[in-house]
Amino acid sequence: MIRDVLRMGDPRLLEVAKPVEAFGTPELLALITDMRDTMAHLDGAGLAAPQIGVGLRVVIFGVHSNPRYPDAEEVPDTVLVNPILTPIGSDQEDGWEGCLSVPGMRGVVPRYRQLRYRGFDAYGAEIDRTVTGFHGRVVQHECDHLDGILYPMRIRNLANFGFVDVLFPNQDIRDD
Ligand code: NI
Repeated sequence: MIRDVLRMGDPRLLEVAKPVEAFGTPELLALITDMRDTMAHLDGAGLAAPQIGVGLRVVIFGVHSNPRYPDAEEVPDTVLVNPILTPIGSDQEDGWEGCLSVPGMRGVVPRYRQLRYRGFDAYGAEIDRTVTGFHGRVVQHECDHLDGILYPMRIRNLANFGFVDVLFPNQDIRDD
């Protein structure tokens, strides 16, 4: 079921989400189905449970090749529960981000260049990956939602924050 996505300003987006305690339950699977439906409907790259008003440590993400975004790196479709992120090194790089909770806007956000992430899928199977670049950026963005952090809070120079149609005129960029 497609759910409403909370927008920045809603206090629920600022809460720290709670760990999932039971895997493979009908409730957890229904939550993930709703998150997938909602993300697909809005053509998003990722979604965190708090964005649909559920305060649990669950994120989903995935990016596939799309002629509209020939330069976008692919990211495997992933359900990640109770994630733990560990940066590798201290290198950060700037990149443009958007968010379904901040529609129509983009900002330049620093993220760790390389990190390891661990967690579980919907059924409790372990996930353990070391990633870089855009994949790592997506994971860091989504997991921030579990700690009540929205990407505008991480923008270092607010001159690099604006409306997507003004920043990138003549480009067909999705509104997330
Ligand atoms: Ni977001």
